[in-house]
Amino acid sequence: MSSSTSSPYLTHLVCLECGEQLLPDIMMNACPHCGSGWLDARYDYASIAALWKTPRQLADRPPTLWRYAELLPIPAPDPEITLDEGGTPLLRLYQLERLYNHPHLYVKDERQGPTSSFKDRQAALAVTALKQAGVTELVLASTGNASAAYAAYCARAGIKLWLFLTSLVPGEKMREAALYGAEVVRVSGTYDETKQVAAEFAKRRGIHLDRGAKAVPGKESMKTLGYEIAASLGLQLDPSGEHWIAPDWYIQAVSGGIGPLGALKGFQELYDMGLTDKVPKLGAIQAAGCAPMVHAFAAGRETADPVVPQTLITVLATGDPGLSYAQLRGHVMQWGGAMIAIEDGDTFAAMRRTASKAGLSVEPATAVAFAGLEKLLTSGQIAPGETVVINGSGHTFPAESHILGDQYLLNLEYDRSGENGGSRRQVEGWSAALETLDEQVTTILVVDDNPNDRRLIRRLLQARKHYRVFEARDGREAIKLLYDHRPDLVVADLTMPELDGFGLIDYLKSNPDLASIPVVVVSAKTLTAQDKSMLASMTESVWTKGDFSTRRLVDHIVETLGDEVEIPTEDVRSQPKMTPLPEVGDAPLAPRTVVIIDDHEPDRRYVHRIINQIGTFTFVEAASGREGLKVIHERHPDLIVLDLLLPDMDGFAVMEALAHEPTLGDIPIVIHTGKTLSAAEREQLEQQAALVVEKSAQHRREFISSITHLLM
Ligand SMILES: Cc1ncc(COP(=O)(O)O)c(C=O)c1O
Ligand SMILES: [Zn+2]
Repeated sequence: MSSSTSSPYLTHLVCLECGEQLLPDIMMNACPHCGSGWLDARYDYASIAALWKTPRQLADRPPTLWRYAELLPIPAPDPEITLDEGGTPLLRLYQLERLYNHPHLYVKDERQGPTSSFKDRQAALAVTALKQAGVTELVLASTGNASAAYAAYCARAGIKLWLFLTSLVPGEKMREAALYGAEVVRVSGTYDETKQVAAEFAKRRGIHLDRGAKAVPGKESMKTLGYEIAASLGLQLDPSGEHWIAPDWYIQAVSGGIGPLGALKGFQELYDMGLTDKVPKLGAIQAAGCAPMVHAFAAGRETADPVVPQTLITVLATGDPGLSYAQLRGHVMQWGGAMIAIEDGDTFAAMRRTASKAGLSVEPATAVAFAGLEKLLTSGQIAPGETVVINGSGHTFPAESHILGDQYLLNLEYDRSGENGGSRRQVEGWSAALETLDEQVTTILVVDDNPNDRRLIRRLLQARKHYRVFEARDGREAIKLLYDHRPDLVVADLTMPELDGFGLIDYLKSNPDLASIPVVVVSAKTLTAQDKSMLASMTESVWTKGDFSTRRLVDHIVETLGDEVEIPTEDVRSQPKMTPLPEVGDAPLAPRTVVIIDDHEPDRRYVHRIINQIGTFTFVEAASGREGLKVIHERHPDLIVLDLLLPDMDGFAVMEALAHEPTLGDIPIVIHTGKTLSAAEREQLEQQAALVVEKSAQHRREFISSITHLLM
């Protein structure tokens, strides 16, 4: 990886743990002397002080954070990436001043950033640096807002983003990131566990991992909060624009701490350059259910013990702040300030008050800071007459859920069953989850104009692995999906309308971004010698419809993807054959139809409810085997859910009847039965059905997830 173009004023990096001076390489991960990841950028301050004497000198530059480029590690925005970030207003809070009888309260309105939070600053710098360094894929763990910010900037930079979020992050935030094209992985664990698993995922796949508050570009970006506040305050208090003015307090809701670390460094630099007369005190406000810094500070400790977060304010759920705490504590010891905690209930009250008194709709994490402001004012920790700036860190807007399909989320379930076995078991728990995730993020594009063939290939693959499968009707549709999803493998038919398989393969192989994607051809076309030689040079393999066992095709695809193939347990001949089907044109794609055959009405309703959670389907219910067969003939459903004990012909007989129908034999069947199955019966059913679920031993979540895989 090449290093970024850094600012001409950047002189060197300093290791915050051993103090060693290092070369100004902003992509450096760790100190070569002590291994610490905490590196800090230093600049040619004397030259910059001469350029920045008054805020007025900078006033005719564009009103973005790039106005302060001399003190940033990157000298200029990338026009393809920037969203004109920074430059948010500093608003005076007149109504709150009256309410608290305290003049000079201000909010730095970071809600007005491109993705509505102050994380835009970090994402803009971090993503620009990554792009310069040639990074094309990035892994990020986030508690919420960094996800939308990074997703937006990665979209502009053409960087594929893998986002790891805890399952507590609200759906709106996940959807927003997904809308920007990020791959969203929802982890059932704490934020600190999510960070670990993201790091592990990045390592396994050799993808760059964002280092949060430790990464130089990210933290440096947050300094611009300090510069902008001092410039705006200078202008508001003295319209001549001759002075930078630092406030007495900088207040922020704190999680990982990148905001205050950066903002306070910015203020410190202005002070060190002789441009201001003070460095603000820090008001670090945490949610009471996740306040490791506040506890350690109160106890006078230099390091913070990690906590397991118990707060509804998921954005602030960093349980283990690491070295951020020591640095912020150091600031408070030197310049003054406070670290205090706010109960969730008080946060929600502050949220309403901030909206109704200040006209600012802020998200709960930001309301924590407003509640903290009130507490610091009423307790007298903020002295009368002190100027206070609060970071109005974020306001998010929900992304409409119907915009996205149902495959935008990947779930990573951490198996806690081994937790008592100590850390080794814990590692195994994650590693099993990561293996499943590896499958889930393996994406296959099936291109075939025959919907039945597409569905059959999808079903066969997903019966074996948790792969994500997208379908396209022809070459043109496939090209769009290639760009959206960058599949790991393409299964393509040859004869298709619009752009045919030859055209698609030709396009794919002549495009350097896509050429490495393996193509497996499955087609009924009779090939000429010329066709054969072209395909031999450009594809993995060619399969003729009707002429092979589907098990071998699936094995081949699994192997091509570098996954493990299971040892076959059944006779290969019992696998369904793929037969060329008459080209009947496209069936409507949605909604798909599910037939539920069960004589017990509450059970039919239960299945209906479960499947309804997965997506939009048309349901047809039948209370007997005969009635069931009749509707299957009429409707050609995409899935059959079948009870075994039925009044007229039982479930075994229904399956037997279907197996002899050429067009109905491939419809996946889920057996949902109250019958206690013998081992022999179970074995027989598992050969014929896609899934066997006993009503008594039902696990709702597993049932949902298995059915989801069948229907995807
Ligand atoms: C809206 C909002 N406020 C405050 C914070 C806490 O910021 P920091 O990471 O600087 O501790 C975050 C962080 O995710 C946030 O999104
Ligand atoms: Zn060091």
